[in-house]
Amino acid sequence: MTRLRLAAAILILALVSLVIAYVQRPPDPWTEDELNLIQSLALYTLPPLGGDPTNPVADSTQAAILGHTIFFDTRFSATAGVACSTCHQPALNFTDGRVVSLAIGQAKRNAPSIIGTAYSPWLYWDGRKDSLWSQALAPLEDPDEHGGDRLQFAHIVYADPDYRKTYEMLFGPMPNLANRQRFPIGARAAPQPNSLWLAMDEADRVAVNAVFANLGRAIAAYERLLLPGFSRFDQYALALREGYDPNYTRLEKRGLDLFINQANCTQCHNGPLFTNNAFHNTGLLSRPGHLPDTGRIGAIDSLQSDPFNCLGQYAADTRQQADPVNPQQRCAELIFMGTGKTLVGAFRTPSLRNLAKTQPYGHAGQFENLKSVLQHYNNAPDAMIGHNEAKPLNLWPWELNALEAFLLSLQAPPEVAPRWMNPPAG
Ligand code: HEC
Ligand code: HEC
Repeated sequence: MTRLRLAAAILILALVSLVIAYVQRPPDPWTEDELNLIQSLALYTLPPLGGDPTNPVADSTQAAILGHTIFFDTRFSATAGVACSTCHQPALNFTDGRVVSLAIGQAKRNAPSIIGTAYSPWLYWDGRKDSLWSQALAPLEDPDEHGGDRLQFAHIVYADPDYRKTYEMLFGPMPNLANRQRFPIGARAAPQPNSLWLAMDEADRVAVNAVFANLGRAIAAYERLLLPGFSRFDQYALALREGYDPNYTRLEKRGLDLFINQANCTQCHNGPLFTNNAFHNTGLLSRPGHLPDTGRIGAIDSLQSDPFNCLGQYAADTRQQADPVNPQQRCAELIFMGTGKTLVGAFRTPSLRNLAKTQPYGHAGQFENLKSVLQHYNNAPDAMIGHNEAKPLNLWPWELNALEAFLLSLQAPPEVAPRWMNPPAG
């Protein structure tokens, strides 16, 4: 009798393992369409970074050196204690490991990685900036972040022989900041202009704004060097293309299968950076005790009225090229951006290439780890505001594990020379 039971138990176990093996089966061989889709996700299909017509020094190494130095220099803050690298730490894939960022005050959102961000037409979770250089200006004056001021920064550059030399080599002579009558210490342009700033000559204020924009351009030149590296997934895609033996686990393959088929993650996370660069509502809850974030819809006004946007006077090519890019063409993204209701509670689809070390996830750090992100997609709850575009997946736990294994196979050390990953020497 007990023997029979044992045999039955073994049989059931064998059957269960067979079923599990079946649902976890790797999808080899892939269909033609699947193979094409997989190739479209591979890093080697990423085109070289295009030029930025609003940033003439975008590809200048001198500008990157200047930007790199500023990125790590805490003098560019109200307290002399905050730099970009405070919240974008190279060791954490340029994030800070916090739910929401903290410097002088607490920021409202989670710090995203900036690896590969130079490819994005929009910056920030809500895309309220339309260029990398214009984005870089915002934290410098944000009272919760660097809390400094553009005139303070211009004075720092002017007074520091190294900074000034590089600056003037790249952008031409600085205004005569030694004249404290014209450029008074303590004049502030943002968040609200103070009386000292308003009393300055219009031309001097414009000159300071131009210096500020140029500092952003140098920082952008540095950030353009922070590019994603070749991951295990890319190796697999290459192996499929070239027909050699892939070094990719069953679980990863199964995860890839779910990602492109049943779970349809590629609806939004597509292309070699795994983002369509568009805005979607995926029903994230707000942080406890906080109002739901309006996301993209709340960013439209500030984007359109931003003096440093693509159509603003500081975006013109300062080198006065013979053939300047016409603003209609140069700023097409901004001119033709969507402003409709679907943008309520919508956020920019983030890249999925650098998820290791960038937890917590979500625009307000709502998810402690990848498991909880995937659980969220599995349930797809109603959105607090707007409408959740994602549908419940109803996947089994082992399928979620496969998805996680796939996501982690997108991780690779960034493709960046070591000198740019550390603070400047000396
Ligand atoms: C106090 C922490 C903090 C500091 C300091 C800080 N950032 Fe950020 N950064 C953030 C947070 C938080 C976000 C996301 C905010 C949002 O989307 O509303 C962000 C977003 C960004 C983005 C957008 C990335 C993307 O893909 O959308 C870039 C680029 C960036 N920061 C660069 C910089 C630079 C350059 C500096 C220095 C001039 C800087 N940051 C200073 C916290 C910080
Ligand atoms: C409808 C578009 C859409 C679909 C479909 C979608 N995502 Fe997303 N994904 C987003 C957006 C938008 C965010 C940012 C949401 C936020 O923070 O409010 C995001 C965030 C994420 C994050 C967090 C990244 C980070 O750095 O914080 C991960 C991981 C992720 N998605 C994985 C997936 C996976 C896996 C699937 C398929 C099961 C999927 N996504 C399907 C649009 C989508």
